[in-house]
Amino acid sequence: MNLIFLGPPGAGKGTQAQRLCWDYDVAQISTGDLLRSNISKGTPIGVEADKYIHQGNLVPDELIIGMIKDELKYTLAGGFLLDGFPRTVPQAEALDIVLKEMNFKIDAVLVLDVLSDEIVARLTARRTCPTCGKSYHLIFNPPAKEGLCDIEGSTLYQRKDDNEETVKHRQEIYENQTKPIIKYYEKQNLVHKINGLGKLDDVYYLIKNLLQKIVK
Ligand code: AP5
Repeated sequence: MNLIFLGPPGAGKGTQAQRLCWDYDVAQISTGDLLRSNISKGTPIGVEADKYIHQGNLVPDELIIGMIKDELKYTLAGGFLLDGFPRTVPQAEALDIVLKEMNFKIDAVLVLDVLSDEIVARLTARRTCPTCGKSYHLIFNPPAKEGLCDIEGSTLYQRKDDNEETVKHRQEIYENQTKPIIKYYEKQNLVHKINGLGKLDDVYYLIKNLLQKIVK
């Protein structure tokens, strides 16, 4: 099963992707997580990417495409879920070329729809594990022990780009630069829209139901 998750920042892509990957035993490839890992290690990619992420802007396509190509080669075979990539039409075109070269295809593009006010409420109270990347919400999805990751026990942190001003800028970037790729995939008959506004378990139920129908 090969999937792409699309949706505005805070739609729940990472949260739902983690559960799906666990249940279906496929690899989650999150460009946001890869970039943050590069930033924390201080690699040349990380140093460059930090300038953009901090302000809520997209990292340049050439840097992302170079980084993801390497990652895809290692993880494609067992099935994959792309979370946060592609995010521009040039990235989607580059992905098509890589997949064709390797004889893989996308089964579905899932678009999580969430209203703008909900996004701010979700992201300003998000807390993230520095070790495994799992995200929590102080009210909607709190950890069992306050401030600590359920899996790793690490102290949760708040992402630098999760303040209200940057979140609103990221929403604009999504509207202008990422949304056009929905049309790109509609032309390939791959798009399925899901209402991401329900409770975590309800949204997951909608996704699993859909996958049962579309992925053989
Ligand atoms: P990235 O890390 O991909 O961030 P994003 O797309 O903005 O998405 P988020 O991680 O903020 O949200 P999500 O949809 O995963 O939501 P989550 O499940 O955590 O990218 C960060 C930056 O990296 C970008 O701005 C850019 O600079 C750069 N970048 C990354 N990829 C790039 C690319 N391909 N090209 C260029 N630049 C790139 O949920 C959010 C919160 O809501 C959590 O607290 C969660 O617990 C809660 N929640 C989830 N679902 C529900 C629900 N149903 N009800 C209530 N609360 C919920």
